[in-house]
Amino acid sequence: MFSFFKNKASAPAVRYADINGKRVEVRPKETLLHAALRENIDFPHSCRVGGCASCKCRLLAGKVKELTDIGYILSDEELEQGYILACQSVPQSDVSIDVDLSAQTQRKRLTGRVVLQQRLTPDITHLKIQLAEVLDYKAGQFADLAMASLPGHTRSYSFASPPQPDSSVSFFIRKVPGGAFSTDVNERDLIGQAITVDGPVGEFWLRPSDVPMILIAAGSGLAPILAMLQHALAEQCQRPVVLLFGARTQADLYALEQIRTLEERWPAPFEFFPVLSREDEQSDWHGARGRVTDAIPTLRLAGAEAYLCGPPAMIDAAAALLVAGGVRREDLYADRFTTVADALNTSSVELVD
Ligand SMILES: Cc1cc2nc3c(=O)[nH]c(=O)nc-3n(C[C@H](O)[C@H](O)[C@H](O)COP(=O)(O)OP(=O)(O)OC[C@H]3O[C@@H](n4cnc5c(N)ncnc54)[C@H](O)[C@@H]3O)c2cc1C
Ligand code: FES
Repeated sequence: MFSFFKNKASAPAVRYADINGKRVEVRPKETLLHAALRENIDFPHSCRVGGCASCKCRLLAGKVKELTDIGYILSDEELEQGYILACQSVPQSDVSIDVDLSAQTQRKRLTGRVVLQQRLTPDITHLKIQLAEVLDYKAGQFADLAMASLPGHTRSYSFASPPQPDSSVSFFIRKVPGGAFSTDVNERDLIGQAITVDGPVGEFWLRPSDVPMILIAAGSGLAPILAMLQHALAEQCQRPVVLLFGARTQADLYALEQIRTLEERWPAPFEFFPVLSREDEQSDWHGARGRVTDAIPTLRLAGAEAYLCGPPAMIDAAAALLVAGGVRREDLYADRFTTVADALNTSSVELVD
């Protein structure tokens, strides 16, 4: 029968989130991160678009809707344990969240000036920023950079060296086609420009251990790997090292002098394999060709710890091969250089850089 009374759509419900024991109201369509920051909780975060995993937290109870696919940034193990990304999670019921807030307390926001802008390859630039005080971080971590001339474009970049006594910080920044920040760094003169460095962020650093290390970097992913190795050498690390470095052509290889110095001074076996994916067949290159991941099955993997850095597709492919070859999942550490396009799942799959 026809009804005079229209079904009124029920108003979206306000939910409540218990964040480390503090009760927070979450408004309709609001993410957990947004609600937490609105309530002045110093919730860890960086990109806010599901690309960096710094807002990772554990869902203890309740249900959330994910705005983007979080499966590519969190490991299978983390997903099984109930980890979610707060910046991508809209509660569908009242929820209870556990988050490690300690990292935030180490974060500092410092402004410095660009003192070096040096082209390393056709699309990677070394940007050195002089800060007024030393920023304490672990080699392997990253920071959020912002330029006054590019408002609203804060981007994450890994430190390319361990902390320096002169309080300078360095980054290797690859130009992403159509990218706002990375194009400026690679194409505009930034010497003397003020840049804000907010960090440190991230959980990518060398874990204390004696077992052999396999380090795999692609493109600008070499930055944190180099920083970790330089720090480990200074700490008199005695672990055997295999370093795989993926690039397209010989022109895309860089920091070879620094790697040679590491190799010479390293007190244990140190093997370095650059792998080129698009080097001209007729060129004088005698090293490995193909994808950097192609070299993985040739390595002795069982009992090793692995550190991977580069684009998400390379990391996923490398992780699968390493685990298949005998590296335990819990001995695998990775930093994904995601971009907005990756987070929105619109980028083309690139394995090299
Ligand atoms: C933890 C971490 C560490 C990182 N470290 C480094 C590093 O050391 N070195 C390095 O080179 N990079 C690093 N990155 C990547 C870096 O943060 C930037 O994502 C990268 O430099 C691109 O920034 P951009 O401003 O140039 O590009 P963006 O302007 O963010 O654009 C990136 C791409 O997305 C596309 N895009 C932008 N907006 C949209 C939209 N709305 N819809 C669809 N497509 C869009 C653009 O066309 C472009 O192709 C890291 C990333 C993370 C998460
Ligand atoms: S802040 Fe949530 S993934 Fe970066």
